Order: sequence, then C-alpha cells, then structure tokens
Amino acid sequence: MSSHPGAGFPAVRPRRLRSTPAWRRLTRETRVAPAELVLPLFVREGAAEPVPIASMPGVVQHTADSLKAELERAAGAGIGGVMLFGIPERKDAVGSGATDPQGILNVATRIAAAEVGDALVVQTDLCLDEFTDHGHCGVLDASGRVDNDATLQRYRDMALAQAEAGSALLGLSGMMDGQVAAVREALDAAGHSDVAILGYAAKYASAFYGPFREAVQSSLQGDRRSYQLDPANGREGAREVELDLAEGADIVMVKPALGYLDVLAAAAASSPVPVWAYQVSGEYAMLEAAAARGWIERERAIEETLTSIKRAGADAILSYWAVEHALREGAR
Ligand code: PBG
Repeated sequence: MSSHPGAGFPAVRPRRLRSTPAWRRLTRETRVAPAELVLPLFVREGAAEPVPIASMPGVVQHTADSLKAELERAAGAGIGGVMLFGIPERKDAVGSGATDPQGILNVATRIAAAEVGDALVVQTDLCLDEFTDHGHCGVLDASGRVDNDATLQRYRDMALAQAEAGSALLGLSGMMDGQVAAVREALDAAGHSDVAILGYAAKYASAFYGPFREAVQSSLQGDRRSYQLDPANGREGAREVELDLAEGADIVMVKPALGYLDVLAAAAASSPVPVWAYQVSGEYAMLEAAAARGWIERERAIEETLTSIKRAGADAILSYWAVEHALREGAR
C-alpha cells in the first residue's frame, strides 16, 4: 500500500477530532453537570466548631451554623442535593437517637429543609450505624447477630422521623432484606407518599468505607459482611437491584463507585429508574493523599473519576467533591 498523502491510508483517522482543544471540547461524550452531583454532609451533635476529619482532608463534621453556610454554598454551586449524616453525642443498643425528633440527624434535616429545601433535594442516611453503640446497621439479637426483621421496625420509625423532619429522599443504606418495602409501607400509611426512597441496592462490604468510619466516629467492632455484599459478586449485585426495584425503590444505588463500574453499567442498562453511584470516603482519601504528595494531578484525577462513573451509567453521583466539581464545571 502506498504512503502517498491522498492515497487514503490510513482510511480512518480518529485523531482528527482530537487535534485541538476546540475539537475535543465539541466531541466530548460525557460531562458531569452540577445538577447531577450530591454532596454528603456530616453534622455533629454538640460541636462548638467544625471538626476536621483527618482521613478526609477538606471534609469536616459540621456544627448547625457551619452546616447552614455549607448548604448555601452547595445551593449556590447548583448541585442537585445533599445527603445528611448525623453524629450523636450518645449511642445505645437500638440507636435511639435515630428516631428522636431532637436527634442530630433530624435536627439537621429540619435546618436543611428550611434553608435550601427549594433549591436542593434534601436527603438523609437511613441506617442505624451512626447511632448504635455496637456500630452495626441494625439491632442485635440475643446471640449478637444483626436481627433483620427487628431492624426493619427501627427503619420504619426512622423513616417517619426523617419524613417529618423534611427529608425528600431517604437513603436506605443498611442492606437489610425487605427494607425498601418496609419503609415504603410505613411512609404511605403515615401520609408520606411524596417522600422518595433511594435503595442502596448493590452496596458492597468495602475497605473503602474506612475514612467514613472516622467521619462518623463509628463504634463498629468486626465488619458488615453478614449484610453487605461480597465484593466478588456481580450477579448478586444485580439481584439486589432487582429486589429493590420490585419493592418500590424510586432510585437505586451502586456503592462504592470506581471499583464497581461493571455493576453500575449493568444496573444502568436494565433499570427503569435512575441509577446513582456513591464515590465513597476511601475513593476520596486515596486520591487526596496521593495528590498531597504530588504523586497525582489532583483536579484532573477528580474529573477523570467522576467522568468515568458517569460514563459507566450513573445518572447522579454522591461525591465529597460535589461542590468543587460543580464550581469548576459551572465556570467552563
Ligand atoms: C452506612 C453508610 C456507610 C457509608 C454510607 N452510609 C458506612 C458503611 O456502610 O460502613 C459509607 C460512605 C463512605 O465511605 O463515604 N450508614
């Protein structure tokens, strides 16, 4: 074959569309819009000042006042919503703080609903682990195992407390069997049919939740492998998605994100409802740590991970970089 220009070899030249910044900008397939990002926020009961989280540089446990400021910043950046987590002063075996209207998460939810409830979808973590003294996502039976059905009753009560506080979307992250159906039924029976459910359908027992345990001062001894999924299991993740859909989830979640893009892509291909992904604390921490050492280009790496998660099929992404990315994207 001749190498004469014009002889038509190579016949296909994909590099044409990559040749200038203008071309690349015009042909980019995937962007993460501010509205597709959800910022997780931690609120600590009794805190006088925001408390830094050592393993998540740049992320803090908020006071009521610093929460308000952060909510304004989030709304100003045009993100889609916030997911609230509470850190109570006192914990007990059944996680009483979770269902107490004066419990920190419910107090924070009322603040968020009042401050930014029109601009953002205010969301709450519906799980007992922040509130139990043993740190598990449910209550324990006499032998010390997580009692699925007794936990569902706690989740029903927690759902009502959160709905009454003004949460628009309940994030069911506890991985109990039947949790979506139980919470849906409780909400509807109490007249909260407008409150939506985010089923953490395919939530894996991941080492990448490590920094989160510091963030919420978790009391957990042991692990969550008797309820969260084995990281090796893709088919089981798909089944959990199907079950949450059948039970009435309005949105389903895959978590963590970056290590589970195959599970995410499969869910996105089949789900009739939005599929979200959670870029978890360990994904944040490892990139921040490498960037702090100059081992990785921080902003490019953040954008690359978010874009990859979206490209794999996420309709929205929970990310600790939500506001930062939104401000950059909005300025482009
Ligand atoms: C459970 C919950 C966890 C996370 C979100 N919801 C912790 C866990 O399952 O152990 C982890 C989020 C993260 O690591 O960023 N309430």
